[in-house]
Amino acid sequence: MTANQVQGPAIHVQGLEKSYKTLKVLRGVDFEVARGSIFALLGANGAGKTTVVKILSTLLKADAGTASVNGFDVGTQAADVRQSISLTGQFAAVDEILSGRENLVLVAQLRHLEDPGTIADDLLDRFSLTDAAARKVSTYSGGMRRRLDIAMSLIGTPQVIFLDEPTTGLDPQARIEVWQIVKELAEHGTTVLLTTQYLDEAEQLADRIAILHEGRIIVNGSLTELKQLLPPAKVEYVEKQPTLEDVFLAIVGDAGHDHGVGTDR
Ligand SMILES: Nc1ncnc2c1ncn2[C@@H]1O[C@H](COP(=O)(O)OP(=O)(O)OP(=O)(O)O)[C@@H](O)[C@H]1O
Ligand SMILES: [Mg+2]
Repeated sequence: MTANQVQGPAIHVQGLEKSYKTLKVLRGVDFEVARGSIFALLGANGAGKTTVVKILSTLLKADAGTASVNGFDVGTQAADVRQSISLTGQFAAVDEILSGRENLVLVAQLRHLEDPGTIADDLLDRFSLTDAAARKVSTYSGGMRRRLDIAMSLIGTPQVIFLDEPTTGLDPQARIEVWQIVKELAEHGTTVLLTTQYLDEAEQLADRIAILHEGRIIVNGSLTELKQLLPPAKVEYVEKQPTLEDVFLAIVGDAGHDHGVGTDR
């Protein structure tokens, strides 16, 4: 059986509990993620989002409950789970000393893939990092690191990808680029679970949105379903003001975005 023959939801979580010493972080978390969909896990700082991601990616053991990824149990079939996933952590995992290209080649080699150089070059191109390919990552901007980090996580074409706060600290344009990449992944059948604190990110990207609060999923639904939880909108006549983000994007345009070249381009 190969990893992509498994049927059923891509992620299935039931009754998940986790404490750190006396701190009960997860008190019975339940949710499912359909294949090829984008699922956003929202929650305040400390809600337990990273804890959920760590359990699903087999980095951490749950105290109770079950979780499966790509049909494999995270507790008893950890190796199969790891074969099926990639994880982009909350803090970038790139090696500062190496160049962007070297980082990518290294991961492709670790995964025993053929022609790591070609894989690296394709990803550099796809993530607009070709011009910066030979530079040490220590000279990259935050957005470039994020893009490289996500590029590294795509090596080996995982079925399920976990993105823990993929756009935290990025400028609006770099965020939009990451969003585009995430949408493309899902269009090609990859299942994406992302955590975020940005409501607009979930709004833009997610097929389903779940809110983790006090150890449980308190809301889980599509954006439309979530909006129906609120009283119907009142009709008011107000002048539409541009958001700060609109203003930022209009003024800065594409020129303000660091695609990886030094100063001028
Ligand atoms: N290894 C650990 N030991 C003790 N407490 C921990 C550990 N890891 C996390 N915690 C605590 O568990 C809670 C949940 O942490 P977690 O990192 O899962 O939250 P989060 O939702 O990802 O938060 P953030 O939005 O800040 O990333 C927090 O109160 C955190 O301090
Ligand atoms: Mg976190």
